[in-house]
Amino acid sequence: MKKLLLDTDVIFAAENGEDRDAAALIETCRSGDEFQAWTLATTPLHLIESGMSPDRIESALQSVSQIPINASLNSKAFESGLEFDAGLLMAAAETFKIPFIISNRYAQADHSGFLSCNQLLNGKHNELTDKVDFLNLNFPLHAIFDEVDGRFMDIIQNTAFAGGNHVDLFEKEFSEFCGVSYTIGLSNGTDALRFALLAMGIGPGDEVITVPNTFIATSEVISQVGAVPVFVDCLDGLYTIDPDLIENRITDKTKAIVPVHLYGQVVNMDRIMEIADKYNLLVLEDACQAHGAIYNGRHAGSVGHAGAFSMYPGKNLGAFGEAGCLITNDRTINDTVRCLRDHGQSQKYYHRMEGYNGRMDNLQGAVLRSKLVYLNEWNCKRRQVAKWYADLLSTVDEVVLPEVPDYSAHSFHLFVVLVPDPQALSGHLKEHQIFTGFHYPVPLHLQEAYQDHAQSGETFPVAESCAQRLISLPMFPELNKEQVQRVCDEIARFYSRKSC
Ligand SMILES: Cc1ncc(COP(=O)(O)O)c(C=O)c1O
Repeated sequence: MKKLLLDTDVIFAAENGEDRDAAALIETCRSGDEFQAWTLATTPLHLIESGMSPDRIESALQSVSQIPINASLNSKAFESGLEFDAGLLMAAAETFKIPFIISNRYAQADHSGFLSCNQLLNGKHNELTDKVDFLNLNFPLHAIFDEVDGRFMDIIQNTAFAGGNHVDLFEKEFSEFCGVSYTIGLSNGTDALRFALLAMGIGPGDEVITVPNTFIATSEVISQVGAVPVFVDCLDGLYTIDPDLIENRITDKTKAIVPVHLYGQVVNMDRIMEIADKYNLLVLEDACQAHGAIYNGRHAGSVGHAGAFSMYPGKNLGAFGEAGCLITNDRTINDTVRCLRDHGQSQKYYHRMEGYNGRMDNLQGAVLRSKLVYLNEWNCKRRQVAKWYADLLSTVDEVVLPEVPDYSAHSFHLFVVLVPDPQALSGHLKEHQIFTGFHYPVPLHLQEAYQDHAQSGETFPVAESCAQRLISLPMFPELNKEQVQRVCDEIARFYSRKSC
């Protein structure tokens, strides 16, 4: 049943016979099972004020549920910038997850988010529900809004913008969450990788092994500290580094391995650590897409010598801007990265070394602390969405689903499948208001930026083949089963039409 939030004007217009559409809508809500009608608890009062008799009010509100108004809804209405009644309807719809607000007066005034009775009866709501975004950054806001709002006011009143208690507390809480000794709050994930490499002493003349199928931040920091990125192909179906190919690429210049937990899929870390131990190499996990992903009971990022996270807004644990962090159990790495993020200062204006401006700001620390509380719950929801996709797409032969090995609790930052013709499928889905992405369409060794690279001319067949076939389907915790079903139905329809 689809929930509708009815404005008083709809109930009034239906009851006094002024508006046939309103009457038809109320009747549809009463007799059918397509819609469930809600209104605000203030509605009876407004109806009394409008002169309607108590028995007519009772009849009008028959089978319409009422939403109590509390201080939080009132303050959201005030803050909405809309006139109060419209703001209250908006706040209630958001809080109680009611997708459609039916109001003739506000629809006529072209307020976005409001439908008239006529628009609803003509199916306009179907156009709105049918859209499936690739990513929805709004979804977590209702859960954390009040807390973040309070924290922001506090920071603004105390002008505690740089550094500050929320960064310190986030560091403590994220360390506890990941089961590590240290977290260093930073301005982004790229700096987390860069500072870790520097703290590990990696520089000119060194080689660092990583994959070509990742975001360029993984490899650019290796070059930028003066070392050479050495690519190793990935595993089909897992998209993570193929451990069997690593030893072949180790030379006496190799200093470290940077495995990437791509899309939230964890790397087989036991294999990586075995190789690292054998050749005395450091391991920096790129966990920028793997917040809360688990490898054999341990958090992604916590198995190697250090783990880097991006808190870019679209990530599973995303800030309200740029942020990142590094986790480690190594005291020297912790101390050096703390120093590097703050211009090499050991204390104010005393510089142990040259460093960078790479600190996390207090507003982001506040947001991340509020969101961290929900990270496991949101990851569970992502896993449920992935399971729906896997079940519903299992019969579509053209779609290759991601594998999830026993050692992994995938965090599904992205849900990536392989298909023969990703661009055509994406175009078809877009025509049906379903939005997709490509992560990533060109492997790093084929990028213009790497044409002068030491190993240019080398091929990485699995990464290359995956890049030509991959498509990222909509993925965020609040995707519901109907939306996933719609995506899968459209994919199935696309391929059944092609095979006819
Ligand atoms: C795998 C990977 N590594 C590194 C980064 C860099 O993180 P940031 O954008 O926070 O600098 C990202 C960001 O998307 C990423 O996906």
